[in-house]
Amino acid sequence: MTMTTSLLTTSYLAAAVLFILSLKGLSHPETARRGNQFGALGMLIAVVAVALHMGILASPTLIGVLAVASIIGALVAARVAMTDMPQLVALLHSFVGAAAVLVGLSNHMAPAVELTGIDKTIHDVETYLGIFIGSLTFTGSVIAWGKLQGVIRSKPLLLPARHLLNLAMLVACVWLGWVYLGQGHDGLQTLLIMTAIAGLIGIHLVMAIGGADMPVVVSMLNSYSGWAASAAGFMLSNDLLIITGALVGSSGAILSYIMCRAMNRSFVSVILGGFGADEGAAPAAGSVAITGDLVPTSAEEVVGLLRAASSVIVVPGYGMAVAQAQHPVKEIVQILRAAGKNVRFAIHPVAGRLPGHMNVLLAEANLPYDIVLEMDEINDDFPKTDVVLVIGANDIVNPSALDDPSSPIAGMPVLYAWESAACIVFKRGKGAGYAGVENPLFFKPKTKMLYGDAKKSVDAILSLLKA
Ligand code: TAP
Repeated sequence: MTMTTSLLTTSYLAAAVLFILSLKGLSHPETARRGNQFGALGMLIAVVAVALHMGILASPTLIGVLAVASIIGALVAARVAMTDMPQLVALLHSFVGAAAVLVGLSNHMAPAVELTGIDKTIHDVETYLGIFIGSLTFTGSVIAWGKLQGVIRSKPLLLPARHLLNLAMLVACVWLGWVYLGQGHDGLQTLLIMTAIAGLIGIHLVMAIGGADMPVVVSMLNSYSGWAASAAGFMLSNDLLIITGALVGSSGAILSYIMCRAMNRSFVSVILGGFGADEGAAPAAGSVAITGDLVPTSAEEVVGLLRAASSVIVVPGYGMAVAQAQHPVKEIVQILRAAGKNVRFAIHPVAGRLPGHMNVLLAEANLPYDIVLEMDEINDDFPKTDVVLVIGANDIVNPSALDDPSSPIAGMPVLYAWESAACIVFKRGKGAGYAGVENPLFFKPKTKMLYGDAKKSVDAILSLLKA
């Protein structure tokens, strides 16, 4: 069974519209599930349409490969812990990169159409670019996966003259591109050398980037994987692949930009790397001396504060995700709200380890969306708040981002937790946040530390509140 061209075009159009609707849906937790379904449906239409058009829908090889891949994909998606999601995303980007390289190489060896003149030159440029971006995306994503998984040290690798090295490799690739255009069909060796150099650029670029900037790297690689797919679309003259790649490429680029802004880092400085420390390392102090003591508190004392409070803000962070404390937190919030208190959540754009991490956790616990507020919506309300519960968050409530110009996170917008009447910080000990810097909030007179695993502390508070 094959497909007419007009049916193919209609299917591509439907899939493209579904992809756009998917992106739109993913922009809000309430519609995210629907967005995902649109995306999956679009992909199904795309795969079936292409297979029908090529007359290979009944091919046992295709069916076998699709079945195995679908089972692996479903198992991995069902089993992945929310905290491991960035690694999975990085790994999936590496597949897109590898696919672009393989499509490019096979397209060189057995071109779908024989072109001549300027058409051939344009096609060769597409092939070359697709392989270049694909190779860089593949190796960069594997390194990003390794760093996020803890297989590779998250500390930046800063080789001497590293910028010069990158530049030299880039110039070599441009020159090889020129050589390749003159070689035509005989250029396989040139392509392979460029693939290796581009792979080295990917490794070197991501190795030079520290842990704190990894989210931007992952979304940047997401963008690259989109452009690699788009280039593959040009190679194969497949309009849907071009559109899909461009959607992924541009949305990844926009996300990188938004995250850079939320962390007050320039995109170029992130890409050129260097910032970031080992997670869990002892905090580094900034140049502004921290005064005051860490004052521990107890679940009983926190419950007393909560009972007396009329307004409470919860600031969730990475530690809440690790401890999986969102469900008892929800119950606490329900009890407090039933007692007539104004309880809200303050969400920092880069809280946790992936965009929207906290929103996903809170949605999983079925918290109403109207009490989950973005940083800009709630930051001015901290001075009017009685109690702030900082649950496993650190960098996103660090005042040195505002007062210490020498701090690695200087200029990053933060939540003004210290402006409330009382601030309780839930954490296990003296561990630093992702940026590895000391947090003066913990030493402020109105702050108290509730030490221990966030889930255990929250459970203790919940049972006291219920008693
Ligand atoms: P962090 O600054 O990483 O702080 C998390 C804190 O949680 C740590 O200080 C840790 O202290 C505590 N913690 C860890 N496990 C805990 C547990 N089981 N129970 C209680 N506390 C626990 O987190 P954040 O404030 O959410 O800030 C996010 C940081 O990650 C930012 O620097 C951001 O730039 C970066 N980042 C963000 C993303 C995205 S896109 N969201 C991705 C990657 C990186 P103890 O060890 O003392 O318990």
